[in-house]
Amino acid sequence: MKEVFMEKVWWKDAIGYQIYIRSFKDSNDDGIGDLKGINQKLDYIKSVGADFIWICPFYDSPMDDNGYDVRDYYKVAQEYGKMADLKKLIKDAHDKSIRVVVDLVLNHTSDENIWFVKSEKKIEPFTDFYVWKDGKMVDGKMCPPNNWISFFSGPAWKYSEKRKQYYLKIFSNKMPDINYESETAFAEMEKVIDYFGELGVDGFRVDAIAHIGKDLTFADAKNLKKTYKSFSNLPNTHAYLKRFNKTFSKNNLVTMGELGGDPSKKDLIKYTTENELDMIFSFEQMSVFKKDHTINRKALIKTLKYKESLSSKNGWSVLFWLNHDYPRLISRIRGEQDNKNAQICLASLMYMLKGTPMVYNGEEIGMENYPFKSPADFKDVNAKMIFDNAEDIDAEFNKLKETTRDHSRTVMQWDSTKNAGFSAGKPWTYVNSNYKKVNVEKAQKAKDSILNNYSRLLAVRKEYGEALCNAKYKFFNKGGYMGYKVTCDGYTLEVIANLSKAERVLDLQGAEVLYSNMPKADSLKVYQTVVLKRSL
Ligand code: NOJ
Repeated sequence: MKEVFMEKVWWKDAIGYQIYIRSFKDSNDDGIGDLKGINQKLDYIKSVGADFIWICPFYDSPMDDNGYDVRDYYKVAQEYGKMADLKKLIKDAHDKSIRVVVDLVLNHTSDENIWFVKSEKKIEPFTDFYVWKDGKMVDGKMCPPNNWISFFSGPAWKYSEKRKQYYLKIFSNKMPDINYESETAFAEMEKVIDYFGELGVDGFRVDAIAHIGKDLTFADAKNLKKTYKSFSNLPNTHAYLKRFNKTFSKNNLVTMGELGGDPSKKDLIKYTTENELDMIFSFEQMSVFKKDHTINRKALIKTLKYKESLSSKNGWSVLFWLNHDYPRLISRIRGEQDNKNAQICLASLMYMLKGTPMVYNGEEIGMENYPFKSPADFKDVNAKMIFDNAEDIDAEFNKLKETTRDHSRTVMQWDSTKNAGFSAGKPWTYVNSNYKKVNVEKAQKAKDSILNNYSRLLAVRKEYGEALCNAKYKFFNKGGYMGYKVTCDGYTLEVIANLSKAERVLDLQGAEVLYSNMPKADSLKVYQTVVLKRSL
């Protein structure tokens, strides 16, 4: 039985580690992280507790959106290495029992992709590969086909002088959306999936997958603030995915789908229960962070319950606190008196749930936000587009200095040497000036570091991972003293975090303390978290 489980769904009791390749480790000192750099750090990744890695896009790209704008799927971006480096990374990772999941961008490509170049010139069979529409004449002026707005701000359409039509682009101007009503589009992307399957990757994190189906009536959005509803979680997305799923399954590839655009619970469950995706990435947990940088305790327990419910029946959810699109976790809760232990509490509450934990590189050492000083400091195309369309630059800056994606993309802090040990060359982005205090080398040496807490916690998670898959969860919250009791076969696990204002006495009779972030567990200090085991 166990063998079938491990063979068929290795990912249910696995732990993932996400790598933002550009900022992770630079092996050739050009200031940009690369595939060989990741290879050098496999032992470290393993020591954190990971069983698989998710690598952000490394494909050939003009890097308008750091690789999410793919020019050529069959080539590695020159700054990240060569296909041979990817093959070696897959082999070396597998030798160390680390599986490899890569990013698959199905919703759009770069406007420099040959498919787009041909589509713009109406060269068959690529004419309808993207979403093209005529503009509307309004008061003698050419305007976009409808009022849809891009996730990155401004209109979701861009005019092509060559084709005299607009193309849809729900992200940046250089990222045209693919039209899956086109058989050629499907066939080309299926070839990409087969190619990486044959290369030996274990699966995909499927980017922006909630948006591949559009409202094909192209009617104006009624509520402008929710225009994304016109291209999010629509029935055709589910239909397209059912087709892609056949290619994923044929290659035995696991899929984790990024599901933005405010999906309903019904939608989320549909994705993983109706032969579409294996795992879902959804974002309810972002409601936990308050404007004053503290944790909303009520929202937290609600989120935990919700996440767990997504992994019932045959559905499955990824458990995470941040990724490369969000600010750093420890900074988001910096209003807490002890934000280091508060982060550890959040980690134990999230990563012991039913689902697959995913740690974002740098989270495990408590990397912090970067102190951006002016609009010119941002590197991210999203920030640039916000300023291009802004009426009040100062107001946008004040928001962005907290929320920018650039925070989570500063270089990984390995040690106290130049550029935090990321590169001997000039890094493409910022190095947080706290790197002499916050780095892997230091964290490894300090017993009570976030890193050592993560590896101890994740070791427990690993040991009980399989049991958690089928366990029953019961949640409680008494004024911030919160957590859940998990009933397994013959024993219970209790995951408790004290996020209340007072110390709490804990009955340890008959309990084994599997994990605690503080030395004694007989009474729980504020910001203390434990995992207990009791026989039934
Ligand atoms: C989601 C990715 O995580 C983000 O970084 C990217 O900008 C968009 N999808 C578009 O690909």
